[in-house]
Amino acid sequence: TRTHEDEDLPHATKKTMADHLRKYESLFTLTPQRMRMIVEAFKDSLELGLKKPEQVVPMIPTFVFGWPSGKESGDFLALDLGGTNLRVCLVTLQGEGKFEMTQTKYRLTEEQKQDEGQKLFDFCAECLKTFVDTNFTDGDGKSLLKPGEMLPLGFTFSYPCVQERIDHGKLIRWTKGFGALNTEGRDVAEMFRRSIQKYKVPVVMTALINDTTGTLIASSYVNPRTKIAVIFGTGCNAAYMENVKDIDKIKDLGIDEKAQMAINCEWGAFDSFEHEHLPRTKYDIIVDETSNKPGEQAFEKLISGRYLGEILRLVICELIDEGVLFLGQETYKLETPYVFETAFLSLMESDPTDELLMIIGIFTHFFAVETTLAERQFFRALAMLIGRRAARLSACGIAAIVSKMGYLDEGCLVGADGSLYNKYPGFAERVHEGLFDVFGEKGRNIITHHAEDGSGVGSAIIAAMTKVRRDAGLY
Ligand code: GLC
Repeated sequence: TRTHEDEDLPHATKKTMADHLRKYESLFTLTPQRMRMIVEAFKDSLELGLKKPEQVVPMIPTFVFGWPSGKESGDFLALDLGGTNLRVCLVTLQGEGKFEMTQTKYRLTEEQKQDEGQKLFDFCAECLKTFVDTNFTDGDGKSLLKPGEMLPLGFTFSYPCVQERIDHGKLIRWTKGFGALNTEGRDVAEMFRRSIQKYKVPVVMTALINDTTGTLIASSYVNPRTKIAVIFGTGCNAAYMENVKDIDKIKDLGIDEKAQMAINCEWGAFDSFEHEHLPRTKYDIIVDETSNKPGEQAFEKLISGRYLGEILRLVICELIDEGVLFLGQETYKLETPYVFETAFLSLMESDPTDELLMIIGIFTHFFAVETTLAERQFFRALAMLIGRRAARLSACGIAAIVSKMGYLDEGCLVGADGSLYNKYPGFAERVHEGLFDVFGEKGRNIITHHAEDGSGVGSAIIAAMTKVRRDAGLY
Protein backbone atom coordinates (compact mmCIF):
# COMPACT_ATOMS: atom_id res chain seq x y z
CA THR A 1 0.00 0.00 0.00
CA ARG A 2 1.00 3.62 -0.23
CA THR A 3 0.66 4.08 3.52
CA HIS A 4 4.29 4.56 4.23
CA GLU A 5 4.86 6.91 1.34
CA ASP A 6 2.51 9.53 2.67
CA GLU A 7 5.36 11.81 3.64
CA ASP A 8 6.45 11.85 0.03
CA LEU A 9 3.10 13.11 -1.18
CA PRO A 10 2.89 16.76 -2.07
CA HIS A 11 1.56 18.74 0.86
CA ALA A 12 -1.31 19.87 -1.36
CA THR A 13 -2.87 16.39 -1.31
CA LYS A 14 -3.61 16.57 2.39
CA LYS A 15 -4.87 20.06 2.08
CA THR A 16 -7.21 19.10 -0.74
CA MET A 17 -8.85 16.36 1.29
CA ALA A 18 -9.33 18.80 4.16
CA ASP A 19 -10.86 21.33 1.79
CA HIS A 20 -13.26 18.76 0.44
CA LEU A 21 -14.18 17.74 3.92
CA ARG A 22 -15.24 21.27 4.76
CA LYS A 23 -17.76 21.20 1.94
CA TYR A 24 -19.31 17.95 3.20
CA GLU A 25 -19.27 19.23 6.74
CA SER A 26 -21.57 22.04 5.81
CA LEU A 27 -23.81 19.73 3.76
CA PHE A 28 -24.28 17.09 6.45
CA THR A 29 -24.33 19.18 9.61
CA LEU A 30 -27.60 19.94 11.37
CA THR A 31 -27.71 23.00 13.59
CA PRO A 32 -29.82 22.96 16.79
CA GLN A 33 -32.06 25.61 15.26
CA ARG A 34 -32.72 23.51 12.17
CA MET A 35 -33.41 20.53 14.40
CA ARG A 36 -36.03 22.44 16.35
CA MET A 37 -37.79 23.35 13.11
CA ILE A 38 -37.82 19.70 12.09
CA VAL A 39 -39.24 18.71 15.47
CA GLU A 40 -42.15 21.15 15.05
CA ALA A 41 -43.01 19.87 11.59
CA PHE A 42 -42.64 16.30 12.82
CA LYS A 43 -45.08 16.91 15.66
CA ASP A 44 -47.66 18.28 13.23
CA SER A 45 -47.29 15.18 11.05
CA LEU A 46 -47.74 12.85 14.03
CA GLU A 47 -50.89 14.70 15.08
CA LEU A 48 -52.33 14.69 11.58
CA GLY A 49 -51.71 10.95 11.32
CA LEU A 50 -53.76 10.36 14.47
CA LYS A 51 -56.65 12.48 13.17
CA LYS A 52 -57.19 11.06 9.72
CA PRO A 53 -56.44 7.81 7.89
CA GLU A 54 -54.03 7.68 4.96
CA GLN A 55 -51.69 10.47 6.04
CA VAL A 56 -47.98 10.72 5.17
CA VAL A 57 -47.00 9.45 8.62
CA PRO A 58 -49.59 6.68 9.06
CA MET A 59 -49.68 6.52 12.93
CA ILE A 60 -51.12 3.03 12.94
CA PRO A 61 -53.36 1.90 15.84
CA THR A 62 -52.00 -1.55 16.74
CA PHE A 63 -54.81 -2.94 18.93
CA VAL A 64 -52.22 -3.64 21.59
CA PHE A 65 -54.01 -2.26 24.64
CA GLY A 66 -51.88 -0.80 27.39
CA TRP A 67 -48.72 -2.02 29.06
CA PRO A 68 -47.96 -5.61 30.01
CA SER A 69 -48.45 -6.50 33.67
CA GLY A 70 -45.12 -8.35 33.84
CA LYS A 71 -47.07 -11.43 34.95
CA GLU A 72 -47.60 -12.77 31.43
CA SER A 73 -46.42 -16.37 31.28
CA GLY A 74 -46.36 -19.49 29.14
CA ASP A 75 -44.75 -20.78 25.90
CA PHE A 76 -45.18 -18.74 22.75
CA LEU A 77 -43.76 -18.87 19.26
CA ALA A 78 -42.67 -15.76 17.42
CA LEU A 79 -41.93 -15.48 13.74
CA ASP A 80 -39.94 -12.40 12.78
CA LEU A 81 -39.86 -11.19 9.20
CA GLY A 82 -37.62 -8.12 9.48
CA GLY A 83 -35.42 -6.56 6.83
CA THR A 84 -32.58 -9.02 6.43
CA ASN A 85 -33.38 -12.27 8.20
CA LEU A 86 -36.25 -14.52 9.02
CA ARG A 87 -36.22 -15.75 12.58
CA VAL A 88 -38.28 -18.27 14.49
CA CYS A 89 -38.26 -18.06 18.29
CA LEU A 90 -39.70 -20.09 21.10
CA VAL A 91 -40.16 -17.83 24.10
CA THR A 92 -40.99 -19.04 27.59
CA LEU A 93 -42.37 -16.17 29.64
CA GLN A 94 -41.82 -16.82 33.31
CA GLY A 95 -43.67 -13.81 34.74
CA GLU A 96 -41.90 -11.16 36.87
CA GLY A 97 -40.38 -9.69 33.73
CA LYS A 98 -38.32 -12.84 33.09
CA PHE A 99 -38.11 -15.09 30.06
CA GLU A 100 -36.09 -17.71 28.19
CA MET A 101 -35.69 -18.02 24.45
CA THR A 102 -34.49 -20.46 21.76
CA GLN A 103 -34.23 -19.26 18.17
CA THR A 104 -33.20 -20.14 14.63
CA LYS A 105 -32.29 -17.64 11.91
CA TYR A 106 -32.73 -18.03 8.16
CA ARG A 107 -31.26 -15.67 5.58
CA LEU A 108 -33.63 -14.19 3.00
CA THR A 109 -32.42 -13.99 -0.58
CA GLU A 110 -32.86 -10.94 -2.78
CA GLU A 111 -35.12 -13.01 -5.09
CA GLN A 112 -37.43 -13.94 -2.22
CA LYS A 113 -37.89 -10.26 -1.44
CA GLN A 114 -39.04 -9.52 -4.98
CA ASP A 115 -40.85 -12.73 -5.97
CA GLU A 116 -44.56 -13.56 -5.38
CA GLY A 117 -45.65 -12.57 -1.86
CA GLN A 118 -47.45 -15.86 -1.27
CA LYS A 119 -44.16 -17.68 -1.93
CA LEU A 120 -42.47 -15.56 0.72
CA PHE A 121 -45.11 -16.55 3.27
CA ASP A 122 -44.81 -20.19 2.16
CA PHE A 123 -41.11 -19.98 2.96
CA CYS A 124 -41.95 -18.52 6.40
CA ALA A 125 -44.36 -21.39 7.05
CA GLU A 126 -41.79 -23.97 5.93
CA CYS A 127 -39.15 -22.58 8.31
CA LEU A 128 -41.72 -22.48 11.09
CA LYS A 129 -42.61 -26.11 10.44
CA THR A 130 -38.96 -27.20 10.57
CA PHE A 131 -38.55 -25.31 13.84
CA VAL A 132 -41.65 -26.83 15.46
CA ASP A 133 -40.68 -30.32 14.26
CA THR A 134 -37.20 -29.92 15.74
CA ASN A 135 -38.20 -28.37 19.04
CA PHE A 136 -41.37 -30.30 19.80
CA THR A 137 -40.30 -33.92 19.19
CA ASP A 138 -38.64 -36.32 21.59
CA GLY A 139 -35.45 -38.31 20.94
CA ASP A 140 -37.42 -40.90 18.93
CA GLY A 141 -38.94 -38.28 16.67
CA LYS A 142 -42.36 -38.50 18.36
CA SER A 143 -44.33 -35.26 18.64
CA LEU A 144 -44.50 -33.74 22.11
CA LEU A 145 -47.75 -31.96 21.25
CA LYS A 146 -51.06 -33.38 22.39
CA PRO A 147 -53.36 -34.45 19.55
CA GLY A 148 -54.92 -31.33 18.06
CA GLU A 149 -52.74 -29.01 20.16
CA MET A 150 -51.99 -25.69 18.50
CA LEU A 151 -49.14 -23.43 19.59
CA PRO A 152 -49.89 -19.69 19.88
CA LEU A 153 -47.80 -17.55 17.53
CA GLY A 154 -47.04 -13.84 17.32
CA PHE A 155 -46.08 -12.79 13.78
CA THR A 156 -43.69 -9.84 13.73
CA PHE A 157 -44.11 -8.37 10.28
CA SER A 158 -42.15 -5.12 10.24
CA TYR A 159 -43.72 -3.15 7.40
CA PRO A 160 -46.58 -0.65 7.54
CA CYS A 161 -49.90 -2.47 7.87
CA VAL A 162 -53.30 -0.93 8.61
CA GLN A 163 -54.98 -3.01 11.30
CA GLU A 164 -58.63 -3.41 12.19
CA ARG A 165 -57.89 -6.10 14.75
CA ILE A 166 -54.73 -7.47 16.25
CA ASP A 167 -54.63 -10.58 14.07
CA HIS A 168 -55.13 -8.75 10.79
CA GLY A 169 -53.16 -6.21 8.75
CA LYS A 170 -53.36 -4.77 5.25
CA LEU A 171 -49.91 -3.94 3.87
CA ILE A 172 -49.82 -0.25 2.90
CA ARG A 173 -46.51 -0.55 1.05
CA TRP A 174 -43.29 -2.48 1.23
CA THR A 175 -40.29 -0.65 2.70
CA LYS A 176 -36.56 -1.45 3.14
CA GLY A 177 -36.13 -2.58 -0.48
CA PHE A 178 -38.77 -5.33 -0.39
CA GLY A 179 -41.02 -5.56 -3.42
CA ALA A 180 -42.72 -8.97 -3.29
CA LEU A 181 -45.55 -9.08 -5.80
CA ASN A 182 -49.29 -9.17 -5.12
CA THR A 183 -48.95 -8.28 -1.47
CA GLU A 184 -49.41 -4.50 -1.16
CA GLY A 185 -53.02 -3.70 -0.33
CA ARG A 186 -53.70 -7.25 0.88
CA ASP A 187 -54.21 -8.77 4.33
CA VAL A 188 -50.81 -10.31 5.04
CA ALA A 189 -52.11 -12.15 8.11
CA GLU A 190 -54.57 -13.96 5.88
CA MET A 191 -51.87 -14.75 3.31
CA PHE A 192 -49.66 -16.15 6.03
CA ARG A 193 -52.50 -18.24 7.47
CA ARG A 194 -52.98 -19.80 4.05
CA SER A 195 -49.31 -20.83 4.06
CA ILE A 196 -49.57 -22.22 7.59
CA GLN A 197 -52.49 -24.39 6.47
CA LYS A 198 -50.70 -25.48 3.33
CA TYR A 199 -47.76 -26.79 5.37
CA LYS A 200 -50.01 -28.07 8.19
CA VAL A 201 -48.05 -26.25 10.90
CA PRO A 202 -49.70 -26.77 14.32
CA VAL A 203 -49.82 -23.08 15.23
CA VAL A 204 -52.48 -20.43 15.55
CA MET A 205 -51.41 -16.90 14.72
CA THR A 206 -52.95 -14.71 17.38
CA ALA A 207 -51.24 -11.38 16.74
CA LEU A 208 -49.63 -9.47 13.88
CA ILE A 209 -47.01 -7.15 15.30
CA ASN A 210 -44.60 -4.46 14.19
CA ASP A 211 -41.04 -4.71 15.57
CA THR A 212 -41.36 -1.27 17.22
CA THR A 213 -44.55 -2.29 19.05
CA GLY A 214 -42.88 -5.51 20.16
CA THR A 215 -39.89 -3.51 21.39
CA LEU A 216 -42.12 -1.09 23.28
CA ILE A 217 -43.88 -3.90 25.09
CA ALA A 218 -40.77 -6.02 25.71
CA SER A 219 -38.86 -3.02 27.11
CA SER A 220 -41.71 -2.11 29.40
CA TYR A 221 -42.01 -5.76 30.55
CA VAL A 222 -38.50 -5.52 32.00
CA ASN A 223 -38.40 -1.76 32.67
CA PRO A 224 -41.74 -0.01 33.23
CA ARG A 225 -40.22 3.48 32.80
CA THR A 226 -40.02 2.85 29.05
CA LYS A 227 -42.43 5.09 27.14
CA ILE A 228 -41.11 4.99 23.57
CA ALA A 229 -39.42 2.36 21.41
CA VAL A 230 -37.26 3.01 18.36
CA ILE A 231 -35.72 0.63 15.84
CA PHE A 232 -32.48 1.72 14.18
CA GLY A 233 -31.83 -1.17 11.83
CA THR A 234 -32.30 -1.78 8.13
CA GLY A 235 -35.27 0.54 8.62
CA CYS A 236 -36.03 3.20 11.20
CA ASN A 237 -39.32 3.55 13.05
CA ALA A 238 -40.88 4.21 16.47
CA ALA A 239 -43.85 3.22 18.62
CA TYR A 240 -45.35 4.68 21.80
CA MET A 241 -48.48 4.34 23.94
CA GLU A 242 -51.33 6.72 23.09
CA ASN A 243 -54.61 7.56 24.85
CA VAL A 244 -57.47 6.11 22.84
CA LYS A 245 -59.41 9.38 23.29
CA ASP A 246 -56.68 11.17 21.33
CA ILE A 247 -56.83 8.84 18.33
CA ASP A 248 -59.58 10.64 16.41
CA LYS A 249 -59.57 8.32 13.43
CA ILE A 250 -60.80 5.32 15.45
CA LYS A 251 -63.50 7.20 17.39
CA ASP A 252 -66.23 5.22 15.61
CA LEU A 253 -65.00 1.87 16.91
CA GLY A 254 -66.49 2.53 20.33
CA ILE A 255 -63.33 1.57 22.22
CA ASP A 256 -63.27 2.56 25.91
CA GLU A 257 -62.01 6.18 25.93
CA LYS A 258 -60.00 5.53 29.06
CA ALA A 259 -57.99 2.79 27.37
CA GLN A 260 -54.51 3.18 25.94
CA MET A 261 -53.27 1.70 22.69
CA ALA A 262 -49.79 1.37 21.21
CA ILE A 263 -49.25 3.38 18.03
CA ASN A 264 -46.84 2.20 15.36
CA CYS A 265 -45.83 5.59 13.95
CA GLU A 266 -44.14 4.42 10.72
CA TRP A 267 -42.15 7.61 11.08
CA GLY A 268 -39.75 6.54 8.34
CA ALA A 269 -42.34 8.07 6.02
CA PHE A 270 -42.00 11.55 7.53
CA ASP A 271 -41.64 14.23 4.80
CA SER A 272 -42.20 11.73 1.98
CA PHE A 273 -43.37 12.96 -1.43
CA GLU A 274 -43.32 16.72 -0.70
CA HIS A 275 -39.84 16.86 0.84
CA GLU A 276 -40.51 20.14 2.62
CA HIS A 277 -38.73 19.73 5.92
CA LEU A 278 -35.67 17.52 5.77
CA PRO A 279 -32.31 18.80 4.53
CA ARG A 280 -31.58 16.42 1.66
CA THR A 281 -28.23 16.55 -0.13
CA LYS A 282 -27.89 15.60 -3.76
CA TYR A 283 -26.62 12.16 -2.62
CA ASP A 284 -29.83 11.62 -0.67
CA ILE A 285 -31.82 12.56 -3.73
CA ILE A 286 -29.93 10.01 -5.83
CA VAL A 287 -30.50 7.32 -3.19
CA ASP A 288 -34.20 8.15 -3.28
CA GLU A 289 -34.61 8.35 -7.03
CA THR A 290 -32.74 5.13 -7.75
CA SER A 291 -34.60 3.19 -5.04
CA ASN A 292 -37.51 0.86 -5.81
CA LYS A 293 -39.80 3.38 -4.07
CA PRO A 294 -38.88 6.92 -5.12
CA GLY A 295 -40.43 9.63 -2.95
CA GLU A 296 -41.27 7.23 -0.11
CA GLN A 297 -39.66 6.73 3.33
CA ALA A 298 -37.89 10.10 3.08
CA PHE A 299 -36.86 10.19 6.76
CA GLU A 300 -35.75 6.55 6.82
CA LYS A 301 -33.55 7.05 3.76
CA LEU A 302 -31.43 9.59 5.69
CA ILE A 303 -31.07 7.41 8.75
CA SER A 304 -31.33 3.68 8.45
CA GLY A 305 -28.68 1.04 7.97
CA ARG A 306 -29.94 0.17 4.54
CA TYR A 307 -28.88 3.56 3.14
CA LEU A 308 -25.95 5.08 5.06
CA GLY A 309 -23.27 3.09 3.25
CA GLU A 310 -24.81 3.99 -0.08
CA ILE A 311 -24.76 7.71 0.76
CA LEU A 312 -21.05 7.48 1.54
CA ARG A 313 -20.40 5.48 -1.63
CA LEU A 314 -22.05 8.19 -3.72
CA VAL A 315 -19.78 10.86 -2.24
CA ILE A 316 -16.74 8.68 -2.97
CA CYS A 317 -17.90 8.15 -6.55
CA GLU A 318 -18.33 11.88 -7.03
CA LEU A 319 -14.77 12.48 -5.88
CA ILE A 320 -13.50 9.72 -8.15
CA ASP A 321 -15.22 11.39 -11.10
CA GLU A 322 -13.69 14.72 -10.12
CA GLY A 323 -10.26 13.10 -10.17
CA VAL A 324 -9.68 13.66 -6.45
CA LEU A 325 -9.56 10.06 -5.17
CA PHE A 326 -7.71 6.91 -6.22
CA LEU A 327 -5.84 8.54 -9.08
CA GLY A 328 -4.69 6.05 -11.66
CA GLN A 329 -6.45 3.10 -10.04
CA GLU A 330 -9.25 0.84 -11.22
CA THR A 331 -12.30 1.81 -9.18
CA TYR A 332 -15.08 -0.14 -10.88
CA LYS A 333 -15.69 -2.24 -7.76
CA LEU A 334 -16.92 0.88 -6.01
CA GLU A 335 -19.35 1.69 -8.76
CA THR A 336 -22.02 -0.90 -7.97
CA PRO A 337 -24.91 0.50 -5.91
CA TYR A 338 -25.09 -0.72 -2.31
CA VAL A 339 -21.66 -2.45 -2.31
CA PHE A 340 -20.51 -0.14 0.45
CA GLU A 341 -22.13 -1.57 3.55
CA THR A 342 -23.15 0.52 6.53
CA ALA A 343 -21.11 -1.90 8.66
CA PHE A 344 -18.03 -0.40 6.94
CA LEU A 345 -18.93 3.01 8.36
CA SER A 346 -19.02 1.49 11.86
CA LEU A 347 -15.65 -0.15 11.27
CA MET A 348 -14.10 3.03 9.88
CA GLU A 349 -15.27 5.03 12.87
CA SER A 350 -14.00 2.48 15.35
CA ASP A 351 -10.54 1.96 13.80
CA PRO A 352 -8.18 2.46 16.77
CA THR A 353 -4.90 2.60 14.82
CA ASP A 354 -3.03 5.77 13.86
CA GLU A 355 -2.45 4.43 10.39
CA LEU A 356 -6.16 3.52 10.10
CA LEU A 357 -5.29 -0.06 9.22
CA MET A 358 -8.89 -1.28 9.29
CA ILE A 359 -9.78 1.25 6.63
CA ILE A 360 -6.84 0.04 4.52
CA GLY A 361 -8.29 -3.44 4.94
CA ILE A 362 -11.77 -2.47 3.78
CA PHE A 363 -10.56 -0.70 0.66
CA THR A 364 -7.94 -3.24 -0.42
CA HIS A 365 -9.94 -6.31 0.45
CA PHE A 366 -13.37 -5.37 -0.85
CA PHE A 367 -12.61 -2.80 -3.53
CA ALA A 368 -9.00 -3.54 -4.57
CA VAL A 369 -7.86 0.07 -4.22
CA GLU A 370 -5.03 1.57 -2.25
CA THR A 371 -5.52 4.57 -0.03
CA THR A 372 -3.31 7.29 1.41
CA LEU A 373 -3.52 8.22 5.06
CA ALA A 374 -5.10 11.55 4.11
CA GLU A 375 -7.78 9.73 2.15
CA ARG A 376 -8.47 7.37 5.01
CA GLN A 377 -8.78 10.23 7.46
CA PHE A 378 -11.20 11.83 5.06
CA PHE A 379 -13.32 8.64 4.79
CA ARG A 380 -13.45 8.34 8.54
CA ALA A 381 -14.52 11.96 8.91
CA LEU A 382 -17.15 11.48 6.22
CA ALA A 383 -18.54 8.39 7.96
CA MET A 384 -18.74 10.48 11.11
CA LEU A 385 -20.72 13.20 9.35
CA ILE A 386 -23.20 10.77 7.85
CA GLY A 387 -23.56 8.74 11.06
CA ARG A 388 -23.92 11.84 13.17
CA ARG A 389 -26.58 13.33 10.92
CA ALA A 390 -28.55 10.06 11.15
CA ALA A 391 -28.40 10.12 14.95
CA ARG A 392 -29.39 13.79 15.18
CA LEU A 393 -32.33 13.34 12.82
CA SER A 394 -33.46 10.38 14.93
CA ALA A 395 -33.26 12.64 17.97
CA CYS A 396 -35.70 14.98 16.19
CA GLY A 397 -38.21 12.14 15.83
CA ILE A 398 -37.86 11.15 19.49
CA ALA A 399 -38.14 14.80 20.52
CA ALA A 400 -41.38 15.14 18.53
CA ILE A 401 -43.01 12.25 20.43
CA VAL A 402 -41.63 13.46 23.78
CA SER A 403 -42.92 16.94 23.21
CA LYS A 404 -46.31 15.78 21.89
CA MET A 405 -46.84 13.50 24.90
CA GLY A 406 -45.39 15.93 27.47
CA TYR A 407 -42.70 13.54 28.72
CA LEU A 408 -39.93 16.11 28.98
CA ASP A 409 -40.28 17.23 32.59
CA GLU A 410 -40.53 13.85 34.24
CA GLY A 411 -38.25 12.26 31.65
CA CYS A 412 -38.56 8.80 30.15
CA LEU A 413 -36.69 5.83 28.82
CA VAL A 414 -36.57 5.02 25.14
CA GLY A 415 -36.05 1.34 24.33
CA ALA A 416 -33.85 1.14 21.25
CA ASP A 417 -32.76 -1.76 19.09
CA GLY A 418 -31.32 -2.54 15.67
CA SER A 419 -27.85 -2.94 14.19
CA LEU A 420 -27.16 0.78 13.97
CA TYR A 421 -27.99 1.39 17.61
CA ASN A 422 -26.21 -1.73 18.82
CA LYS A 423 -23.12 -1.70 16.65
CA TYR A 424 -22.41 1.81 15.40
CA PRO A 425 -19.87 3.38 17.77
CA GLY A 426 -21.18 6.47 19.52
CA PHE A 427 -24.63 6.33 17.94
CA ALA A 428 -26.51 6.51 21.26
CA GLU A 429 -24.29 9.35 22.53
CA ARG A 430 -25.02 11.32 19.37
CA VAL A 431 -28.77 10.79 19.79
CA HIS A 432 -28.46 12.08 23.37
CA GLU A 433 -26.40 15.05 22.22
CA GLY A 434 -29.14 15.77 19.67
CA LEU A 435 -31.82 15.67 22.36
CA PHE A 436 -29.74 18.10 24.39
CA ASP A 437 -29.46 20.42 21.37
CA VAL A 438 -33.24 20.38 20.90
CA PHE A 439 -34.36 20.67 24.52
CA GLY A 440 -31.39 22.06 26.40
CA GLU A 441 -30.60 20.69 29.86
CA LYS A 442 -33.99 18.92 30.17
CA GLY A 443 -33.11 16.86 27.11
CA ARG A 444 -30.89 14.84 29.44
CA ASN A 445 -34.06 13.39 30.99
CA ILE A 446 -34.70 11.40 27.84
CA ILE A 447 -32.49 8.35 27.87
CA THR A 448 -32.21 5.63 25.28
CA HIS A 449 -31.18 2.14 26.31
CA HIS A 450 -30.68 -1.13 24.54
CA ALA A 451 -34.10 -2.77 24.44
CA GLU A 452 -35.11 -6.36 24.88
CA ASP A 453 -35.61 -8.28 21.69
CA GLY A 454 -38.97 -6.88 20.68
CA SER A 455 -39.51 -8.97 17.58
CA GLY A 456 -39.11 -12.19 19.56
CA VAL A 457 -39.83 -11.58 23.23
CA GLY A 458 -42.14 -8.61 22.58
CA SER A 459 -44.10 -10.60 20.06
CA ALA A 460 -44.55 -13.40 22.61
CA ILE A 461 -45.67 -11.01 25.34
CA ILE A 462 -48.23 -9.46 23.00
CA ALA A 463 -49.47 -12.93 22.05
CA ALA A 464 -49.82 -13.60 25.80
CA MET A 465 -51.61 -10.28 26.43
CA THR A 466 -53.95 -11.10 23.56
CA LYS A 467 -54.73 -14.47 25.11
CA VAL A 468 -55.60 -12.84 28.44
CA ARG A 469 -57.97 -10.42 26.69
CA ARG A 470 -59.51 -13.20 24.58
CA ASP A 471 -60.09 -15.38 27.65
CA ALA A 472 -61.80 -12.39 29.27
CA GLY A 473 -64.04 -12.09 26.19
CA LEU A 474 -62.56 -8.71 25.22
CA TYR A 475 -61.81 -9.32 21.52
C1 GLC B 1 -39.43 0.16 8.22
C2 GLC B 1 -40.82 -0.46 8.32
C3 GLC B 1 -41.31 -0.42 9.76
C4 GLC B 1 -40.29 -1.04 10.69
C5 GLC B 1 -38.93 -0.37 10.49
C6 GLC B 1 -37.85 -1.00 11.35
O1 GLC B 1 -39.52 1.50 8.52
O2 GLC B 1 -41.72 0.21 7.48
O3 GLC B 1 -42.54 -1.13 9.87
O4 GLC B 1 -40.71 -0.88 12.01
O5 GLC B 1 -38.54 -0.47 9.13
O6 GLC B 1 -37.69 -2.35 11.08
